[in-house]
Amino acid sequence: MGVLVRRRAAGDAAGLLAALEPVHEQDGYPLHRVHLTSHWLYDGIEDAWVAELDGRVIGHIAVAKDLQLTRFFVATDARGTGAGSALLDVVESWADALGHTLTLDVVEHNTAAQALYRHRGWEHTGNVVATWVSETGPWPDALTFRRLPTRWRGRTPPASRSR
Ligand SMILES: CC(C)(COP(=O)(O)OP(=O)(O)OC[C@H]1O[C@@H](n2cnc3c(N)ncnc32)[C@H](O)[C@@H]1OP(=O)(O)O)[C@@H](O)C(=O)NCCC(=O)NCCS
Repeated sequence: MGVLVRRRAAGDAAGLLAALEPVHEQDGYPLHRVHLTSHWLYDGIEDAWVAELDGRVIGHIAVAKDLQLTRFFVATDARGTGAGSALLDVVESWADALGHTLTLDVVEHNTAAQALYRHRGWEHTGNVVATWVSETGPWPDALTFRRLPTRWRGRTPPASRSR
């Protein structure tokens, strides 16, 4: 069976953390082990979805209350199955339906994710120091991206329109 995306449930935490551990080891996401907790996955989140393959939770994506796309990963042994794209499809449709502009930060070593965002038309808006990854440095550099809702493509969204 193919990848199924559904809304996240409280009972998904254990499966998600099992999938996330090798992502931390291989991709440095999250960068520090201390964040391999359900708090990291669930706190401050507006909405979230999981990807399932053959009944197993293999991916996750969330939108934080400030409309940042966050907590996005696919299990290392489920890459290339289309799960990452399927999760982004759902979040982008959700944002379009609500008219939301999404933003995200991606640490510079997560190059596959950057390629995926660019490929899908997200706009690279700048570079920042990723001070959110730990209380004390050294902190890696990160890139910021933005995605306007489809109806504002090629037009000026209200928030940045000059009077
Ligand atoms: C980003 C991530 C979720 C993508 O998962 P995935 O399983 O590869 O996703 P998909 O199978 O849907 O592939 C999506 C697309 O990205 C492309 N892609 C995957 N890895 C790539 C890479 N290293 N370089 C360039 N493109 C890549 C695929 O070819 C595919 O393109 P297509 O739709 O044209 O075929 C996964 O790499 C991941 O979990 N990375 C670590 C965590 C991370 O960096 N999260 C982002 C935090 S902001």
